[in-house]
Amino acid sequence: MEASFWHDKWAKGEIGFHEGQPNAHLVAHFDTLGLAAGSRIFLPLCGKSGDLGWLLERGHQVVGIELSEVAIRQLFDDLGLEPAITEAGALKHFAVEDMDIFVGDLFALTPEQLGPVDAIYDRAAMVALPPQTRPRYAEHLVALTAAAPQLLVTFEYDQTVLEGPPFSVPAAEVEAHYASTYRIEPLAKVPVKGGLKGKVAADDVAWRLTRA
Ligand SMILES: C[S@@+](CC[C@H](N)C(=O)[O-])C[C@H]1O[C@@H](n2cnc3c(N)ncnc32)[C@H](O)[C@@H]1O
Repeated sequence: MEASFWHDKWAKGEIGFHEGQPNAHLVAHFDTLGLAAGSRIFLPLCGKSGDLGWLLERGHQVVGIELSEVAIRQLFDDLGLEPAITEAGALKHFAVEDMDIFVGDLFALTPEQLGPVDAIYDRAAMVALPPQTRPRYAEHLVALTAAAPQLLVTFEYDQTVLEGPPFSVPAAEVEAHYASTYRIEPLAKVPVKGGLKGKVAADDVAWRLTRA
């Protein structure tokens, strides 16, 4: 996916991926990561997800990265917060207490800019990326975070019926990206009501990844 694909989606408000409420897998399974209050959680490709606010309300710190500045301005508006905005190399940094959001390309983000994180929450991030980008994404995520544990949410469906995004990321692919780094545990597999985009039967799958 070119950056222009996503900028165009945000400009036109074509954001069917935005849930408008905390993700069901996050609510059901986040605590199984066993994190202390005040932990710092990284949300790659965060959009304006309500999951950021949900984590903040539970006393965590959050750090995200998102290509679209439109999304991030809407995120801060939704939360009623006024960020301090600074340049951070190729990125922009939007900050309030307990929340750091970088605007720009995930692959331009360095571990020094990100800082230490205790866990990763990947919802609609890996599945937003095409197959050829996903190995680089997984490697970058591990390098950025020193292999922080993850709550990972994927879709599984017949990719021949529907083009992504969101892409199907089957269990074997999760293994291929992460088995050398993490212990991988399936947490839940829930059918998508009415099918994905109403076109194909799909499962919404949650995984816990902890250091091997
Ligand atoms: C499917 S959306 C998911 C957003 C969010 N995780 C959620 O659950 O609502 C994927 C997001 O990734 C952003 N994105 C795509 N490629 C990116 C990249 N290379 N770096 C940072 N953000 C990116 C897009 O702008 C889009 O908002």
